[in-house]
Amino acid sequence: MSVDALLQPLTLGTLDLPNRIIMAPLTRGRASEANVPQPVMGTYYAQRADAGLLISEATAVHPGGMGWYRVPGIWSAEQLAGWKGVTGAVHDAGGRIFCQIWHMGRLVLPDYNGGAQPIAPSPIAAEGETFAPRAPGDDSLFLPMKPFVTPREMTQADIDEMVAAYAQGAANALEAGFDGVEIHGANGYLIDQFLTSSTNRRTDGYGGSLENRTRFLREVIAAVTAKVEAGRVGLRISPTSKRKGMEDENPGALAHAIGTIAEAAGLAYVHLIEPIHAGFMDLPDDPVMAQLRATYRGAVIQNGGFSAEEGADFIARGAAEAISFGRPFMANPDLVTRFREGLPLAEVNFDYAYVGEEKGYSDYPAYAGAAA
Ligand SMILES: Cc1cc2nc3c(=O)[nH]c(=O)nc-3n(C[C@H](O)[C@H](O)[C@H](O)COP(=O)(O)O)c2cc1C
Repeated sequence: MSVDALLQPLTLGTLDLPNRIIMAPLTRGRASEANVPQPVMGTYYAQRADAGLLISEATAVHPGGMGWYRVPGIWSAEQLAGWKGVTGAVHDAGGRIFCQIWHMGRLVLPDYNGGAQPIAPSPIAAEGETFAPRAPGDDSLFLPMKPFVTPREMTQADIDEMVAAYAQGAANALEAGFDGVEIHGANGYLIDQFLTSSTNRRTDGYGGSLENRTRFLREVIAAVTAKVEAGRVGLRISPTSKRKGMEDENPGALAHAIGTIAEAAGLAYVHLIEPIHAGFMDLPDDPVMAQLRATYRGAVIQNGGFSAEEGADFIARGAAEAISFGRPFMANPDLVTRFREGLPLAEVNFDYAYVGEEKGYSDYPAYAGAAA
């Protein structure tokens, strides 16, 4: 089957893309311990610059929202300087890159935050455990794991501070040379914790009805689009996800409501994680793309388990405007070429997904025969 539909240009908001193959955001843990982007990250992203658009790994907008070993932030001058190196490398290679702006909410371990309790809409701990920081001198390959803790319920002052942090992060992203930002509203992080009924038990104006559960998102979008034109702002969502104890009572209605918000704001795109093959996430019980599309007329990037052929078919049928690829981009820096030429894909070594400096990161070669 032809993959032509993936190779067609697309205007996303106010940005022209040469193709519809988007690199999904991928946390890789190659920033410094002070969450400063390193030169190897510029190499890695520049290798993938022929994607229609690169979306950066999740990038913390506030130190209290950072809870993953060696992920980048975008709150300090050092971090902005590090990101300038990365965005410069991508632009020199002819690419475009958005910054995924992120706050982890209840998923932050106190170990990352001077022992402070994380904040969230409601004091409900996530299920399971997560990566803890590496102790000095620990040189084992894998990171230690610790269980999530019960977060502190956010006050109005916390909410106002975090809305402002997203806006500052967005402004900082433009200053650091990004072409736009993607608001991370997916995968059980802070915004998703407000949106989803299982993690939001608030009785004030931020909880209960859909109107209330989407209020934090609306405030973040308003604050971010006051700093970055809406045509350069995307939103990532995963209403059907049940990871880490997330479960919305009515994902379709939630998608419908989010679509209304994205439409009113004139966002460049909505990036929907709704897998067609299980793997990173389970298959949705009831897909919500139709509910999203009922209210949002802009571009939808769909994600989750796609092959090139499946992605092209979705676009050709008008089911989505673009497809993002996560795991395939990890081991295939020349993914666009491989898709175009029908070349075989290399397999990811997941031991090095989140650790390893260059190894398993910037050392995956382009296809050996590709230049011939
Ligand atoms: C190693 C790894 C890191 C990820 N990091 C992020 C992230 O920082 N932000 C995000 O929104 N999703 C993240 N994801 C999810 C991916 O963006 C994507 O949704 C998932 O891999 C499914 O797409 P795929 O089937 O094309 O791989 C990550 C996935 C993997 C495998």
